[in-house]
Amino acid sequence: MSEDNEKSVVRGLRDVAAAETKISYVDPAGFLYYLGYNIDDLVGSTMYTEIAYLLIHKKLPNKQELTEFSNQLYHEMYLPKEIVQSIQATPESAPPMAVLRTEVSHLGEFDPDEGDFSQAANLRRATRLIARVPMIVATLHRTRQNLPIPKPKKEYAFSKNFLYMFKGVVPDEKEASVIHRFMILHADHGFNASTFAARVTASTNSDMYSAVTSAIGTLKGPLHGGASEKVMDMLDEINLEEEVEEYIQGLLDEKKKIMGFGHRVYKAQDPRTKHLRGIVEDYCHRERSQGLYNRCMKIEQLVYQRKQIYPNVDFYAAVAMDALGVPKDFYPLFFASARVSGWVAHVIEQYEDAVLLRPKGEYIGDFNRPFVPIEKR
Ligand code: SDX
Repeated sequence: MSEDNEKSVVRGLRDVAAAETKISYVDPAGFLYYLGYNIDDLVGSTMYTEIAYLLIHKKLPNKQELTEFSNQLYHEMYLPKEIVQSIQATPESAPPMAVLRTEVSHLGEFDPDEGDFSQAANLRRATRLIARVPMIVATLHRTRQNLPIPKPKKEYAFSKNFLYMFKGVVPDEKEASVIHRFMILHADHGFNASTFAARVTASTNSDMYSAVTSAIGTLKGPLHGGASEKVMDMLDEINLEEEVEEYIQGLLDEKKKIMGFGHRVYKAQDPRTKHLRGIVEDYCHRERSQGLYNRCMKIEQLVYQRKQIYPNVDFYAAVAMDALGVPKDFYPLFFASARVSGWVAHVIEQYEDAVLLRPKGEYIGDFNRPFVPIEKR
């Protein structure tokens, strides 16, 4: 690569601003803002429905707006029968994230606003996706358990309904509070890889379902939303707290990444970690959660000592979902069930920005190679 080329290629687009946004700000100093609100002021004081509304309508709802939005979500909390049948026909071996990716794309075939690209239609579509992505998740889990899918209850808040339909049992007050906080913490996060993928798709004026399908495929990767499942794999492999040091040092000696640690933007603690660690602490009366928590704290200490890096959102999120009774291959789907509100907000913002996101590649291949016809090759 020539001297000039090296200057223009920014590997991984690190610190490159691809567009302006007003939706969220990820402050490297360890703060996160949704539409200007510090998440520390939102978590524990708002319901997830308020944050989903904030992200797509750019303001927190008043009581009447929240009631109307909750009703809209409730009425969209069903899936066309063809989608349910398709979910029921997926092979047992299909990874849940692959099924979610397929069925969101499939859902686009049944959109009642097909062909209407007005702001009003896009807001209806955004609301529909916020309601239905969790429905695909709940339907898939209940189907794999050969259990019926409960009907949503009108009196439940959206995220409580999601957990109720996923588990088939009424969440208690603590579980309802956990799922609210969990989904608020996962709702948006600047130009992370899956959101950027959604924006690239939207920048061609492609539809919202295509953009969210791009996002799900991107979130699936273990360097992104797929990390939480790998965190639990790691915690399950480390049976005892005493084994942590040898296990972690082994990974580091092999130059392997510790799942659930590090971040492209944060140079300090991920501001979501304290909230997720707090959720786990609330479950430490349970022996399994206490054991997992102890291992997590030991790992956190060690990795900081050795690499000066912090846990990211996926680390304690894994233990929080374990405490909620979510199987680990569904962890990324819980991430997607919340992040969909951020994705659709960014898609709408990208439509407003109306510019094609198309970088260049620094070509370092050959030129003018002599062509030889196949007969002579
Ligand atoms: C999410 O972007 C977002 O906002 C994402 C997200 C969101 O809300 O959307 O926050 C959610 O995706 C969180 C990240 C989940 N992924 C993981 O937990 C996978 C493990 N993490 C790493 O792969 C890594 O930290 C990344 C991918 C998250 C960030 O990687 P970068 O910015 O490309 O950093 P890097 O790989 O260049 O590492 C910089 C240094 C290296 O050390 P040196 O080689 O220079 O000595 O830090 C080290 C790395 O080795 N490092 C790690 C590490 N992460 C970075 N070392 C061990 N384990 C790790 N996890």
